[in-house]
Amino acid sequence: MKIGLLGGTGKFGMGLAVRLAPFHTIIIGSRKVEKAKSSAQAYLKVCRQNNPNFSGSIIGDSNLSAARSSNVIIICLKLEPALELAAKLRDLREDQIVVSPIVDIHEEVPRRKASSTNLEQNNVGSVAEAYLKHIMSCAEAVAGELGRREQVISALHTLPAERLSDLSQAIDADVLVCGDDVLNVKIVTELIGRIPEIRAHYAGPLRLSSHVEGIAIAISSLSRYSKIHQPTIKVV
Ligand SMILES: NC(=O)c1ccc[n+]([C@@H]2O[C@H](COP(=O)([O-])OP(=O)(O)OC[C@H]3O[C@@H](n4cnc5c(N)ncnc54)[C@H](OP(=O)(O)O)[C@@H]3O)[C@@H](O)[C@H]2O)c1
Repeated sequence: MKIGLLGGTGKFGMGLAVRLAPFHTIIIGSRKVEKAKSSAQAYLKVCRQNNPNFSGSIIGDSNLSAARSSNVIIICLKLEPALELAAKLRDLREDQIVVSPIVDIHEEVPRRKASSTNLEQNNVGSVAEAYLKHIMSCAEAVAGELGRREQVISALHTLPAERLSDLSQAIDADVLVCGDDVLNVKIVTELIGRIPEIRAHYAGPLRLSSHVEGIAIAISSLSRYSKIHQPTIKVV
């Protein structure tokens, strides 16, 4: 299978590339093709250092070309650039799957502001409206821009980039997957499940993604408030 990692030059893209490359052809996407190619070379080096018999393929391309030539597209971008890019991907084929691992880590800020007295400043009329404005998940926002809800799968949010990138460590983690199309969910859970010691579980339709994204926000705050390094989750 061809996996396109849009924005794959970043921290999360690197982690996914080196973990998935033993099983799939990886296409790193970037705004700059040269940057994508140089990241692809660097990731290949990491894979070969870890396993001298590694024979996988990692190549670099523009984000749009990487998207067009992939079976599964993983958007490794922060929310705003991800939505801008998704709007340019409306011509995807029906058999392509888009995975959103996106967590809007700043989500807590507008929520906190909205429940205080300065609603007017936030341009919302009521606490209820403020709540509703922020209830759509990142994955649903991506689906809205794409215009293809059933092709969007929400997954991978709770895997820290640093753990993924360090091939000397087994990760031993569970991943929660949300999506509306059963076959697309199956393809993505199997793809993630190929990574040793990572288990992917179907957590329900895409409308539940906001809760999974919320878990990832809570997890990431553990490193800040409880000094837990690279936290992830296990389902027992
Ligand atoms: N980091 C983690 O541990 C982690 C874990 C789980 C989920 N995630 C999610 O994965 C996504 C990527 O996270 P990350 O930490 O890898 O992000 P990142 O390193 O900050 O950025 C990834 C890539 O985004 C591109 N980019 C940056 N600004 C852009 C802009 N204005 N327009 C278009 N592209 C831009 C850059 O690629 P080019 O310059 O090559 O175009 C960059 O390499 C986020 O949504 C995050 O919530 C991250």
